[in-house]
Amino acid sequence: MKESLHKDQQNPMENVDDWEENLLHRYPDPSEAKKEKEEFRNYVDSERLDTVREFYRINHEYQTYDFVCNKEAEFLKFDKKEMSIWEAVEFLNTLVDDSDPDIDLDQTQHLLQTSEAIRADGHPDWFVLTGFIHDLGKILCLFGEPQWAVVGDTFPVGCAFSNKIVYPEFFKENPDNTNERFNTKYGVYEPNCGLDYVKMSWGHDEYLYQIMKDHLPDPALYMIRYHSFYSQHRENDYRHLMNNKDVEMFEWVKKFNPYDLYSKAPVPPNVKELMPYYKELVAKYLPEKLNF
Ligand SMILES: [Fe+2]
Ligand SMILES: [Fe+2]
Repeated sequence: MKESLHKDQQNPMENVDDWEENLLHRYPDPSEAKKEKEEFRNYVDSERLDTVREFYRINHEYQTYDFVCNKEAEFLKFDKKEMSIWEAVEFLNTLVDDSDPDIDLDQTQHLLQTSEAIRADGHPDWFVLTGFIHDLGKILCLFGEPQWAVVGDTFPVGCAFSNKIVYPEFFKENPDNTNERFNTKYGVYEPNCGLDYVKMSWGHDEYLYQIMKDHLPDPALYMIRYHSFYSQHRENDYRHLMNNKDVEMFEWVKKFNPYDLYSKAPVPPNVKELMPYYKELVAKYLPEKLNF
């Protein structure tokens, strides 16, 4: 890093989920396209857009190949905390949203809205479970990680950054962008080597995938691992690194995305009523305790 950022500079957004709200404007719900346009106009003027922009500026500058290696070494030891899923959910909920407590849902409610929308459409139970846990990796914030290393679009590091990634101009400040090892189309990778060999920018997606990888079927793992990889699942700009299995599995990632983005129901889920179903579901697939 060129200079170290002050704590406040590291976390420009008031709420860690502001980037997701921003995503809704980039990829509006097709069924609400007209309304979204209206709202976007207001949003453009707002201060929040600036904070999200600033968030991406830092994210794109500091997410380098070496940074990802260091974070993997630090967090894939899983020596931070031993928790059940329920303890992790409770822990994540301490990540309070102080921007607008009346309107915004807490983290459990976002998870339940996603999973309940999946359940309502009659998908298999592991798909429902995936909806319920997909953002648990955001507990990285509670381990003191800055926003830009937890949320935001994810993208491959170790090869050229796609122009289809949001705010591509901010990659100019990323040292990998001028490093010959990393700044070619394939960088350190081989054509169609498969995403398993490709390092993604570090965040809540990869972290949770690594925790869940022995417990869930492949489609569920792909959804968890790549749900923020918009430059592929929405823009299809990294096909040259993917193998046939990736291509097949990304159909699931695409299927998952609308539930993540557009499942905000007008009525918040009744957590108490839903709990017995989710207790059983979690117990079916996951061990009592997991290492975070
Ligand atoms: Fe997420
Ligand atoms: Fe999410």
